Amino acid sequence: MHPLRVGIIGVGNISGIYLKNLGEFRSTEVVAVADIDLDRAKTVAAQNGNIAALTPENLIHSSEVELVLNLTIPRAHGPVAIGAVRAGKHVYNEKPLTIEISDAETLLSEATKAGVLVGGAPDTFLGGGIQTCRALIDSGAIGEPVAANAFMLSRGHESWHPAPEFYYAPGGGPMFDMGPYYITALLNLLGPIRRVSGSTRISFPTRTITSQPNSGKIIEVETSTHITGTMDFANGAIGHITTSFDVIGNDMPSIVIYGSEGTLVVPDPNGFGGEPMIKRRGENSFSPVALTHGFTENSRGLGVLDMAYAIRTGSSVRASGELAKHALEVMHAFEQSSVSEKHIQLSANFDRPEAMGPTQYADELSA
Ligand SMILES: NC(=O)c1ccc[n+]([C@@H]2O[C@H](COP(=O)([O-])OP(=O)(O)OC[C@H]3O[C@@H](n4cnc5c(N)ncnc54)[C@H](O)[C@@H]3O)[C@@H](O)[C@H]2O)c1
Repeated sequence: MHPLRVGIIGVGNISGIYLKNLGEFRSTEVVAVADIDLDRAKTVAAQNGNIAALTPENLIHSSEVELVLNLTIPRAHGPVAIGAVRAGKHVYNEKPLTIEISDAETLLSEATKAGVLVGGAPDTFLGGGIQTCRALIDSGAIGEPVAANAFMLSRGHESWHPAPEFYYAPGGGPMFDMGPYYITALLNLLGPIRRVSGSTRISFPTRTITSQPNSGKIIEVETSTHITGTMDFANGAIGHITTSFDVIGNDMPSIVIYGSEGTLVVPDPNGFGGEPMIKRRGENSFSPVALTHGFTENSRGLGVLDMAYAIRTGSSVRASGELAKHALEVMHAFEQSSVSEKHIQLSANFDRPEAMGPTQYADELSA
């Protein structure tokens, strides 16, 4: 298969792992990079061989680029991606797909008009950890799914992150920062969500930065930092999630799926590997499950590789724009429910992404 030619917009922290992995997969190649900071793009281009450093505008119009990989900051996700699809490019966005749901709707409808595909992070759910769990659930290892619990609990990022202000601004908070990993994993394992309720709060109205270089600076908190929600899945299962930047210490598992015949502890959805644990009816304790599927190391970009196959062969996109948009709707619905004191109904009109095969794309990594 002829490699998909990728252009990256936004070459900050996370771009390194994408450049590495997309350079290693047989069916993807990075041909250009761009950034609002052109010097940064030039530096990254020089570090990565013979690739072009362009302005974002020139990159989306370059005939060399087939897919725009949008690794900009969240508030730029929508405008950059919409510009790229209007220029006729396929797009894959980092998470969240956009901040506002209306921008996600515009992005998907403009892509349909332009005849291009949209994908969105996270793609951790395509890794061996969660795909092994998906295969267990699909094969009936825990029977009929009944319920799920998910926890992402911490005290926030101001103790270590050099510029933590954005975590406490609109579009930040633990749900929009980490929720995409948890919600996307749950959507992949259990399918669409039809109804959501939530209770949210700002437990501490200010935060004090203790990391350098701004130690001592006070941040006004403008977004919920403790979010608890319920999710009614279309398949009948009832899920609960708590994401928090307000708690000290946590020993809850990341995700647990409860079935009629057993319970499955799912590895951290912010990683690709991990060790699932299962307890079946009649067993006294949990036992580890060996991973049956590949891509267990940091494989960010796997979703882009999957899009390369969709573009070249007509297969479906697993980390699709529709999936990322549904995850965005769920994340917003917790806050909407808390404010309105009502359940929020969702359309839930998408199919679960196709499961990965145990050796799917294994030959992409061979030398
Ligand atoms: N850093 C991580 O560990 C991590 C992990 C997973 C996902 N992400 C996601 O990846 C994205 C980028 O994160 P990061 O940590 O690399 O951020 P970053 O701030 O280090 O890099 C973002 C880059 O985008 C550029 N940029 C901003 N607005 C732009 C615009 N309008 N046009 C062109 N370039 C623009 C910035 O100049 C910067 O170089 C975010 O959406 C984040 O949620 C980050």
